[in-house]
Amino acid sequence: MNKRKVPLAIVILAAGKGTRMKSEKPKVMHEIAGRPMIGWLIETAESLNPEKIIVVTAPGMDDVAAAAAPHQVAIQETQRGTGDAVKPALPFLKDFNGKVLILLGDEPFLDKNVLEKMIEWNGMSVMAVRPLSPKGLGRMIVNEDGTLDSIVEEKDASEEQKQIRLCNAGNFCVPASHIAKWLDQIQANNAQKEFYLTDIPKIAEKDGYLTYVVETDVQWVWGINTRSELAEHERMAQTRLREKAMMNGATFIDPNTVYLSFDTQIGADTVVEPNVVFGPGVTVSDNVVIHAFSHLEGVRVEKGASVGPFARLRPGTRLEENAKVGNFVEMKNTTLGAGAKVNHLSYIGDSTVGAKTNIGAGTITCNYDGYDKHKTVIGENVFIGSNATLVAPVKLGDGSFVAAASVVTHDVPKDALIVARARQLIKEGWANLYRSRKKK
Ligand code: UD1
Ligand code: MG
Repeated sequence: MNKRKVPLAIVILAAGKGTRMKSEKPKVMHEIAGRPMIGWLIETAESLNPEKIIVVTAPGMDDVAAAAAPHQVAIQETQRGTGDAVKPALPFLKDFNGKVLILLGDEPFLDKNVLEKMIEWNGMSVMAVRPLSPKGLGRMIVNEDGTLDSIVEEKDASEEQKQIRLCNAGNFCVPASHIAKWLDQIQANNAQKEFYLTDIPKIAEKDGYLTYVVETDVQWVWGINTRSELAEHERMAQTRLREKAMMNGATFIDPNTVYLSFDTQIGADTVVEPNVVFGPGVTVSDNVVIHAFSHLEGVRVEKGASVGPFARLRPGTRLEENAKVGNFVEMKNTTLGAGAKVNHLSYIGDSTVGAKTNIGAGTITCNYDGYDKHKTVIGENVFIGSNATLVAPVKLGDGSFVAAASVVTHDVPKDALIVARARQLIKEGWANLYRSRKKK
């Protein structure tokens, strides 16, 4: 890791209740592309090579603390505003000399280059945005020389100040030497009776520190305070993820209908048809086809395999090279061997299926007895007839043959045929007799 010339510490504020989300869940745990928003921000923070990252959270927000690991967690006992929220991080910065970058946990997509510019500035700096809709944001009053005069929160702003388009992005870079002193001087004399971090520039000015304003580009909304802003960020994330996958050589027939997760990996010359959802943990190799309306999560798909349409692949599934999963097939925690096929209407769970095995339409593995899960082990070159029921735990030897509609409850030896169903009974002419009896 490259050491910075001036050491950097990053404080992420994530203790807020997120009242406007109307949720039981802490705001920063709401997900974007399958990952809590704070995860996106921590990744950006880590890319800046800081000495330490401290995440400020509230008592009881254990999920936030877990998402912050292995970084340090500071607890803000009562949520009294962004200015107060930095204080619990101070004990972690006691002997720290350098810059402290303060980031807001509800802004997952910060531009690393803009943060670098803020850190480079020799003094105080603040991030600014000009979003299409400035609703809810603090407005920036800027001096003629481009430095910051002050920030006015929307709730405290006059009608005239509300017309200002330049807004506070919320992130500050503060010299560690002064941070405790300046935070101490913040007062809660405002419309919300909160301690505003945005009061810091005015306080710093008295010590001769002017605040440098670094503007960042935004497409639409800035920060996530409401569900619709969350959806807007999801849209931005999806656009970027699709773009990245296509740059890496995947074909999307209708990109806007394919939903990706933050960690989805798709190989070159793989074709993804419309209306496919990739949950977290999916890796797809080259030359694969994912047909329409398939749903994959926690899955690895090797070269040349084919999935769907209408397939559901759940966590722990692995398709080896050229394996084929067809329509209305659900798989979970199963390895499907090279060239093996499950083409129609099946549930295969907690199983291993050997190479070139063919699983007939409607085959079901009964992996659950109401208490425990059991394994089904199917060898290579096995042929399973339609509508077979495999009651786990059970093993089917290589090359074995299962007659259609069999209920398999015992292990099947290699190359054996198993017929486990009632024998067919034929009564010649019975139907005619039945009909004439009924007519009478
Ligand atoms: C804040 C800024 C506003 C800026 C906007 C940009 C202040 C006073 N206002 O407003 O100028 O335009 O961000 O997005 O800073 N938090 C705590 N403890 C608290 C309060 C908040 O940890 O006591 C955390 C929240 O979890 C959140 C972040 O700080 O992640 C920002 O808080 P939020 O209430 O969303 O501030 P805004 O009203 O958006
Ligand atoms: Mg906010």
